[in-house]
Amino acid sequence: MPFPSPHPGFQIRPAIPADSPACLSLTFRALASLLEAACLPVQERPFPCAAAVVEQTATGRIVGLILLGPPLNQGPGLQVHSLMVSAPFRRQGLGRALLDATLTLPPMQPGWPLRTEWSDRLPARDAFAATLTAAGWTPPRAVLLRIQGPVRHTPLMIPRREAMLARAARNGVTLTPWTELTAQDRADLATACDGWDAAGILPGWADPRPALTVAPSPYALLLRTGPEAGGIGGWITCIHHTSPQRWLFPLGWVRPDLTNRGILMLTLADVTLRLHRDHGPDAIAAFETSYDTPDMWSLLERHFVPHSHLNGMTVDRLMSSRHPVP
Ligand SMILES: CC(C)(COP(=O)(O)OP(=O)(O)OC[C@H]1O[C@@H](n2cnc3c(N)ncnc32)[C@H](O)[C@@H]1OP(=O)(O)O)[C@@H](O)C(=O)NCCC(=O)NCCS
Repeated sequence: MPFPSPHPGFQIRPAIPADSPACLSLTFRALASLLEAACLPVQERPFPCAAAVVEQTATGRIVGLILLGPPLNQGPGLQVHSLMVSAPFRRQGLGRALLDATLTLPPMQPGWPLRTEWSDRLPARDAFAATLTAAGWTPPRAVLLRIQGPVRHTPLMIPRREAMLARAARNGVTLTPWTELTAQDRADLATACDGWDAAGILPGWADPRPALTVAPSPYALLLRTGPEAGGIGGWITCIHHTSPQRWLFPLGWVRPDLTNRGILMLTLADVTLRLHRDHGPDAIAAFETSYDTPDMWSLLERHFVPHSHLNGMTVDRLMSSRHPVP
């Protein structure tokens, strides 16, 4: 494969199966099976993926690797899952040359989208972002915010939460775990979702019905503003991870006429109290939001992120960049 040589002493070429062991130290351990697949001849790869290496011509030593695979958002094209150059060989243009090589690396096709995502907690985040920028990729953009920590800290983030919940209850607001929904709740939710679908109000990502049917959780909550048919006000969904042990809340949505009235905060107040009561102060709650839910994002930024220095709290922003393929 005739890739332009970035430097007289180096050659960039597609990876072959024999490269796999040497490449293991140039990527994350969790990507070992992707690496193995990407080193196969292109027609034998079980799914679209690719890998290219930088080889030092004098020694045959592999000093850099780029690994591509299916996009995590299941969209078209390929995603750069990892890019690494051995420390002594950095700042010689090799990382950038590997990025440039992806455009002509089989099975990449002209016009296929090419993207990458990384955590802003990655030690080399600044070097990676600078390398992408130098290679003409789009400026890094935060697409997902996740904040997690033990529920014992929640009273600092949601002060007076018991009073807030009591006031909401006096106003007829109910918060019901999805495992305890009545047939009437389910019927009202289905009717409400159909209506919002028809009106184009409910975005696809917010649809609660798949999570409700696949894995109902006692910490997913349905919020009602009243018992009448139109009383469905919003929800949060929950996924329980066993390793590490935590409860992830990937989705929260409120009826458009109820936004900016503290409804999301109410669901977080309620669910963190439930977790504390059932699993103790060390239970880990993880709240996640994407750029298409600006209300939830700004709520987490304003009320949770300022407490990220507390013991056990972590804040993680998923950054994204893409190659501006024509
Ligand atoms: C990110 C990484 C692959 C860059 O590789 P590299 O070969 O050093 O990058 P390049 O030499 O091609 O850099 C190209 C340009 O990017 C910018 N750049 C790269 N690293 C930089 C750094 N540490 N600080 C500032 N700018 C940097 C510069 O503009 C550079 O051009 P210049 O050297 O002429 O100024 C390398 O730092 C690395 O392997 N890091 C650890 C692994 C990692 O975290 N990978 C990213 C996520 S998978």
